[in-house]
Amino acid sequence: MRVSIIGTGYVGLVTGTVLSDIGHSVTCLDINEEKIALLQQGKSPIYEPGLDELLEKNIQEHRLAFTTNVTQAFKDAQFIFIAVGTPQGDDGSANLSFIEQAAKDIAMNVTDDCIVIVKSTVPVGTNDRVEQILRENGLPHIQFNVVSNPEFLREGHAIRDTFYGDRIVIGAELDEVSEEVAVLFQPLNIPIVKTNRRSAEMIKYAANAFLAVKISYINQISNLCEKVGADIHSVADGIGMDSRIGRAFLNAGLGYGGSCFPKDTEALSFLAREHDVSMSIVESAIDANHKQRQIFIQKVLHHFDGNVQGKRIAVLGLAFKPNTDDMRDAPSIDIIRTLVHYGAEVTVFDPVVKVTSMLENISITYASSLEQCVEQAEAALLVTEWPEFVHADWSELTSRMKHSTIFDGRYVLHNSQKNIEPKIITHIN
Ligand code: UGA
Repeated sequence: MRVSIIGTGYVGLVTGTVLSDIGHSVTCLDINEEKIALLQQGKSPIYEPGLDELLEKNIQEHRLAFTTNVTQAFKDAQFIFIAVGTPQGDDGSANLSFIEQAAKDIAMNVTDDCIVIVKSTVPVGTNDRVEQILRENGLPHIQFNVVSNPEFLREGHAIRDTFYGDRIVIGAELDEVSEEVAVLFQPLNIPIVKTNRRSAEMIKYAANAFLAVKISYINQISNLCEKVGADIHSVADGIGMDSRIGRAFLNAGLGYGGSCFPKDTEALSFLAREHDVSMSIVESAIDANHKQRQIFIQKVLHHFDGNVQGKRIAVLGLAFKPNTDDMRDAPSIDIIRTLVHYGAEVTVFDPVVKVTSMLENISITYASSLEQCVEQAEAALLVTEWPEFVHADWSELTSRMKHSTIFDGRYVLHNSQKNIEPKIITHIN
């Protein structure tokens, strides 16, 4: 089938690549010429394990193409995916200007009936708005059907999540349209939830907010564990083995960051406020998540009796989580900014993020290796649980440090580093 995708961010790029890999003819459109030029050479502008190989293969086999040309992108398209960003506005609401522009571009350039599939995370009712824009701006004889198909892939696991997702949600107003979209995804053999558009839109927000609540819940439990002498890891295992709860997303630590949970929890709260419905559980999760970073920072400051002036501190990990180069709302930013503000000499190392514009005006040193980062440090802060940090030779690393104090912000070293004797201070135990 012929598929077009608007937007080559994480969602659009991975969806397009996987759809081409299962046999569809896919053209991806983006306004960013630099990005498209890179993609045409089979190179991914984002770090995502396995993506480069899949891109190259499907471009070579002529199932996957990239363009900045709207007419070329929509030529003969049976399905057009909208996978553009919905950034957070100042009031917490989702900014829909890219979605609206994409709908206008489709309306003004498509010359045949087609199904428009909204993959971006959008507030309930947005698919109706997309349909309205298509009708108002498109040629009168063209039939547009709009379908909500929210995305559940995680950065860093995007390819696997798309091939082996738990479910595909198809929100459509007509059964026959829903069926056509199901056929598109059929080769993936993933269970499909068919519903209406508004429910599909809500499923995405409700899922992300639930996971965010789960994380904040386990973080608050971990803070209490610390006070009462319980071990959060055993507690998480103990409750996670209850199949009604599940162990996933019960890893306590610095809390959630990235481009999804922070934005989507705010957008859901905004939507609830608009409709005068209490969303206090999600609001509390947001608040707890902000506080979790502060608790960690306070712990570091307390260790230095409130004075980090001139102290050499190593920060391990910049990306908001392992296996990505994404720095959006990464805990590392708040932690580094605060420490530098109080006069610490901060050296950072991340296996993938070598330098970041997010810390542009902050005076820090970028180390070129983990060893260099911890050299003569008075404390090391493990902020992102990259496997190379978790499984590093910490006896060797601590021998390079001035004081072998490690703040384990992800509670990952206690198991893998049983044989060493540094003073490991997690903020959760
Ligand atoms: C999240 C969802 O997991 C995806 O299903 C969804 O498609 C995506 O948002 C989206 O809306 O596009 P993502 O943000 O890529 O995916 O990353 P996750 O692996 O879900 O992690 C989110 C945050 O939670 C990270 O900061 C991570 O460190 C944190 N986390 C996760 C914890 O603190 N503890 C955990 O146990 C799990």
